[in-house]
Amino acid sequence: MELSPNIPVLPQTSPDTILVGNRFIRACLRRPVDRTPVWFLRQAGRYMQEYREIRKFHTLVEICKQPELAAEVTITAAEKLGVDAAIIFADLLLPLEPMGLDFEFQTGEGPVVHHPVRTAEAVRTLRTDRTADLAYVARAIEKVAGHFRDRLGIIGFCGAPYTLASYMIEGGGSKNYIHTKQMMFGDTATWRSLLDKLVVVLTEYCQLQVQAGADVIQIFDSWVGSLGLADYRDYAFEASQRLVRAVQQMGVPVIYFGVDTAGLLPDMAATGADVIGLDWRQPLDQGWRAVGHAHAVQGNLDPITLFAPLEVLELRVKEILRAAQGRPGHIFNLGHGIVPGTPVENVQAVVRMVHEFRLETAHA
Ligand code: CP3
Repeated sequence: MELSPNIPVLPQTSPDTILVGNRFIRACLRRPVDRTPVWFLRQAGRYMQEYREIRKFHTLVEICKQPELAAEVTITAAEKLGVDAAIIFADLLLPLEPMGLDFEFQTGEGPVVHHPVRTAEAVRTLRTDRTADLAYVARAIEKVAGHFRDRLGIIGFCGAPYTLASYMIEGGGSKNYIHTKQMMFGDTATWRSLLDKLVVVLTEYCQLQVQAGADVIQIFDSWVGSLGLADYRDYAFEASQRLVRAVQQMGVPVIYFGVDTAGLLPDMAATGADVIGLDWRQPLDQGWRAVGHAHAVQGNLDPITLFAPLEVLELRVKEILRAAQGRPGHIFNLGHGIVPGTPVENVQAVVRMVHEFRLETAHA
């Protein structure tokens, strides 16, 4: 893999490997680090007072579209928590708009797509030539990258083809993915053409983000756990793999994330993604074995553990760090996003616990 200029190229055996470069990016590449890097899925959001203040005056989409605001939200969250990486403040659904689909976030209901894509004709009319409209995300990344320089890793992101297709077809979140699977099984050609269009748009979108200074791209396949293994292989894997490879060609590592994926992990790893996200439903070492040690892993604290007493939280955090056994390539994170109401001080405490944990005591 060719690396972009912001990633120092070092031989694995170099004596100064521990100190050169940002520890988050180093961990993505399975290089040794001085301490385990940590960041949180949804680290900027409603659980944080500063974010709620800004949300009083702006909608979610307004924040995303104003680079100054998106950068401020991103930077404030990362600095307040003391994490090793900043994920750009944006939303998974933003690419739907230039493809020709309107959506909105309804309070308490999550995203709603007004005209769900359910027919061959609806897929045919989706546009793939307006991705440049998403340049506001790139402008926000430039501001965040300018602020942090090399101190923190800057994460750009997009949805995986399967997960985004499911939003487009269902018209929002879903429990059973009936319409999605109906198209997948009933009109496979249309399904494939939808994924093809998504790969075109998402590749260009990631390109914008990498050019603006994203060090790493995370691909969210949040709802891929709704698929059985055979269906993942037949209907989702190939498009994800194409996207992973296209992003790696841009010179940055890829984190491929999903939830409820225990049975899918070896196949998700086969996409070639550098880092695989692990949810909390199996111990980290078990998940890492399934992924294979040739990949880095990210995870895997149950986000609701952040509501537990500090002693319990600390036990859980240490369990995860011990399970990683000091092996290069572990990024500490949650198994899914921080939920509203999470005590900020507990999130900060986890950062301290991870940073204070000494790798040489990993077996103690
Ligand atoms: O620090 C961060 O991680 C924030 C940036 C971010 C947002 N959305 C902002 C946001 C990221 C990385 C996302 C990704 C995203 N969006 C995903 C994948 C991540 C995952 O959790 O699996 C998904 C599935 C979406 C779609 C989406 N957007 C949902 C399901 C919701 C929840 C709706 C709700 O009311 O809870 C959103 C809204 C959203 N996106 C919020 C934030 C901070 C919360 C609400 C708000 O400010 O109104």
